Amino acid sequence: MKDFVFHNPTKIIFGKGRISELGSEVRRTSRKVLLVYGRGSIKKNGVYDQVVDSLRTAGIEFVELPGVKPNPVLSKVHEGVELAKKEKVDGIVAVGGGSTIDTSKTIAAGFYYDGDIWDAFVGRYEVKRSLPIYVVLTLSATGSEMNMGAVITNEETKQKYAFVAPTSYPRVSIIDPSVQFSLPRIQTANGAADAISHVMELYFDGTPDVWIEDEISEGIIRAIIRSTDILMNKPDDYDARANLAWSATLALNGVTRTGRSGGDWSCHAIEHSISALYDIAHGSGLAIVTPAWMKYVYKEDIGKFARFAEKVFGVEESDEERAALEGIERLKNWFKSVGLPTSLEDVGISSTEIDKIVDNAAMRTPFGSLKRLEKEDVREILKLCV
Ligand code: NZQ
Ligand code: ZN
Repeated sequence: MKDFVFHNPTKIIFGKGRISELGSEVRRTSRKVLLVYGRGSIKKNGVYDQVVDSLRTAGIEFVELPGVKPNPVLSKVHEGVELAKKEKVDGIVAVGGGSTIDTSKTIAAGFYYDGDIWDAFVGRYEVKRSLPIYVVLTLSATGSEMNMGAVITNEETKQKYAFVAPTSYPRVSIIDPSVQFSLPRIQTANGAADAISHVMELYFDGTPDVWIEDEISEGIIRAIIRSTDILMNKPDDYDARANLAWSATLALNGVTRTGRSGGDWSCHAIEHSISALYDIAHGSGLAIVTPAWMKYVYKEDIGKFARFAEKVFGVEESDEERAALEGIERLKNWFKSVGLPTSLEDVGISSTEIDKIVDNAAMRTPFGSLKRLEKEDVREILKLCV
């Protein structure tokens, strides 16, 4: 187990009806906020009304920035920074999933930067200051509600990159699992695949002797699978929503990173190239890439892949290699069982596109820690995605 510092400053308020507490939380730092949200789901499921009621009751003024799209883009961030500066807001409230939260984190940083905040994504600017960020989560997937990362696509260069900064941690995130009853099945499944992948990227980074982390990680994945299976038939099962929500937060809030080497993140790097180019849902992209990556690298740490098969899927097989391969198959089949795509073809991407994806990913190769991947490795993995 490696040395670590664990410090996560985000306060989580979890439970049904808790959005009413938003205004009094925001009031600790802010009087006029930018209210950022997506393309309308919060107006249909009542979340918008709850948010606005709470802000008004607390006497918080707000200006709205609607229209954040999935796989959020830099131009929306620019629009938000301009509006935030013009309106002289002193805080940001993000209401939505990862796309809305990441857009908000980037606007919050861009508010204090005179250049183009894209600089933070390409290492030209280190974010040291952000507006205070408050979150009302409506989709459990990314963990962005309790981490310091943001992922944005530069639509001109087709780069989908992340920046991290301690000032990007939300001050408070409110997670009311019942507002996720309205999610389409595929979005629930996308969220589950993303959260599982976050755990796996850390679990398979090759660090030995992280027993407690491994147990926590396997437990999180089992809980995600169990709750998602229930939600596929009963989308308004509160306990399943609640368990999935908290599992997804824990998957990327630092808890599963402690004692490890920082994660592998190859699947994310490859997936970000796919969703940058073809605008598919991040979770769907991961369901395609992850089993292929596993097949390509399992020999690097065969015992760990066999353990994954046993602990997550109950595979009983004494031969390590057979167990490892069986675990990969079970994961892929589970993705299929919840309606996720597991090949590029499933999302309408032809194998003739592989070169384009490889070139995009190669802007950042080599990456990965279990196996360091060069451009040609990425091509081989993508061939396994067909
Ligand atoms: O636009 P709206 O109306 O909000 O609809 C959204 C959107 O269409 C809908 N939705 C959200 N909550 C809903 C709902 N529909 C009905 N009822 C609800 N309660 O769901 C759709 C997807 O939303 P989005 O925010 O795009 O999804 P997600 O949370 O999966 O975020 C994905 C983005 O986050 C990035 C991904 O790459 C992708 O761009 N990631 C961010 C990370 C982070 N900041 O830590 C890490 C991840 O690895 C990931 O890369
Ligand atoms: Zn992810």
